[in-house]
Amino acid sequence: MFRKLTLPAVLLAALAAPVIATAATVETEITDFSFPFEGPFGKYDQHQLQRGLQVFTEVCSACHGLTHVAYRTLGDATGPGLPEDQVRAYAAQYQVYDKTLNGGQGGDRPATPADYFGGSQFQGAPDLSLMAKARAGFEGPYGTGMAQLFKGMGGPEYIASLVSHFEDPPACAPPDFPGYYNKTFAVGGYPEECKNPDGTHKYPGSWVAMPQPLYGNDVTYQDGTDSNLQQEAQDVAAFLMWAAEPKLDQRKQAGMTGVLFLTVLSVLLYLTNKRLWAPYKRRKHEA
Ligand code: HEC
Repeated sequence: MFRKLTLPAVLLAALAAPVIATAATVETEITDFSFPFEGPFGKYDQHQLQRGLQVFTEVCSACHGLTHVAYRTLGDATGPGLPEDQVRAYAAQYQVYDKTLNGGQGGDRPATPADYFGGSQFQGAPDLSLMAKARAGFEGPYGTGMAQLFKGMGGPEYIASLVSHFEDPPACAPPDFPGYYNKTFAVGGYPEECKNPDGTHKYPGSWVAMPQPLYGNDVTYQDGTDSNLQQEAQDVAAFLMWAAEPKLDQRKQAGMTGVLFLTVLSVLLYLTNKRLWAPYKRRKHEA
């Protein structure tokens, strides 16, 4: 049994070592924002999801797709919760290709709530449907898992940091270096001129192909919330977290019901056990 385990363990260690070594050379800045859906009792804030939808629609969707999300889910009570007529109106702004139109020739028609958001419009821009789960902002699911339970994996923190951590490039970078300097992005290009003699980076982050999308006051929120950069970044990150994990609230609720049920069951079993054995225990004492 042990011998069987050693080989894969050694292999894994050998495979993991270089990955950790390269990851460690790129420092990034990820802010630990606090989101209302964190922690065992956390829930999505419907107003925040609506604001995030607005930022996504007016800014991000110019480049990014959201192809796994259906328009109808915008009406979900645990999601943005838009009334039915608004969901219909939102979908109708977009055209979708329908191959049954024009007698089977195909053609475009306005989208209905049953259709899905469109794909990416900008070369190299990834689909954002699952991005909040694909990027962990903090150390992965190691340790006891308690940090993740209370603070989450950091996907939305990563997105909010990414879109708010654009800065002027450091002076060492050649002016024609491709991309935009970002302190959160780890895997982009990095100019040789900004490296130390030992190959480590002088500045955190790297150069990303996405131009800075948000500057603050890019949208006008209908609920009167101030649309500063931090607010917009967190709102769109919360919306993308909901897009990637729309059943978070329900799962947490089911988990809590389970814990509660098991607690009550444990107490009942303890009492039953005591009662069942009580006559025998008493007899022993008497003897
Ligand atoms: C002008 C087009 C454009 C706009 C607008 C835009 N992006 Fe991007 N985005 C890109 C491109 C291109 C990439 C790929 C960057 C790369 O791999 O270097 C990208 C990558 C990303 C990534 C993935 C980064 C990673 O770790 O791989 C996220 C998350 C993201 N964008 C979020 C957003 C959000 C949120 C908004 C709206 C506030 C937005 N983007 C607006 C073009 C855009």
